[in-house]
Amino acid sequence: MSNVLILGANGGIARIAIDLFLNETDVQLTLYLRNSRRLRNIDSNRVRIIEGDVMDIEKLKEVMIGQDVVYANLAGNLEPMAKNIVEAMNATGVKRLIWISSMGIYDEVPGEKYGSILEPYRRSATIIEESDLDYTILRPGWFTNKDEIDYETTQKGEPFKGHEVSRKSVAALVVKLATSPELEVRRSLGVNKPVR
Ligand SMILES: NC(=O)c1ccc[n+]([C@@H]2O[C@H](COP(=O)([O-])OP(=O)(O)OC[C@H]3O[C@@H](n4cnc5c(N)ncnc54)[C@H](OP(=O)(O)O)[C@@H]3O)[C@@H](O)[C@H]2O)c1
Repeated sequence: MSNVLILGANGGIARIAIDLFLNETDVQLTLYLRNSRRLRNIDSNRVRIIEGDVMDIEKLKEVMIGQDVVYANLAGNLEPMAKNIVEAMNATGVKRLIWISSMGIYDEVPGEKYGSILEPYRRSATIIEESDLDYTILRPGWFTNKDEIDYETTQKGEPFKGHEVSRKSVAALVVKLATSPELEVRRSLGVNKPVR
């Protein structure tokens, strides 16, 4: 049974992933978030809730102890957050990181040019790629709320396929990666709904 720490646990993808983790795996979850009142009631003895900010490095190190997997579902000023997470994981010897980013960070989407809006995503991905961690970076397309698990992935260096992907698909991939320690390690994956 493994221990999974979710940073930014009230995020849209994270909330779906929490349900999948609880319904389909036996992992123990630690939910780390800035305001625990925002989280709807989760009735499970496999869940521990810790209120905290990813910018609080000491608290972050504390919550890393004993974790097998860190799943970061964050938005905003991602570069200092990535630095803190790498530092806290190095300090506590936790190796496996799943990091939600965005399509477009390598200019890999045919016919699209993303500007400065993706800078925090680009810079945070570089920090993670330059670390020694066993990371998997996910670069999803535009999120939809479709109730489906339907996705394919592309590797770094390949053109992105499609445009959209359901939140549920991204959450399902996170759960698969978190429970498969050897899968897609040190990889950055585009995630899209196949175009048929
Ligand atoms: N929308 C799209 O189509 C799309 C497509 C591809 C990628 N993405 C990106 O994918 C990522 C995940 O998406 P999402 O919809 O699940 O995200 P989301 O709902 O925006 O959640 C992000 C979470 O990050 C938390 N957070 C921000 N700063 C924090 C800090 N310093 N410490 C702790 N927590 C912090 C927020 O917490 P609070 O609740 O405390 O604010 C929030 O719950 C985002 O970066 C998003 O931009 C989006």
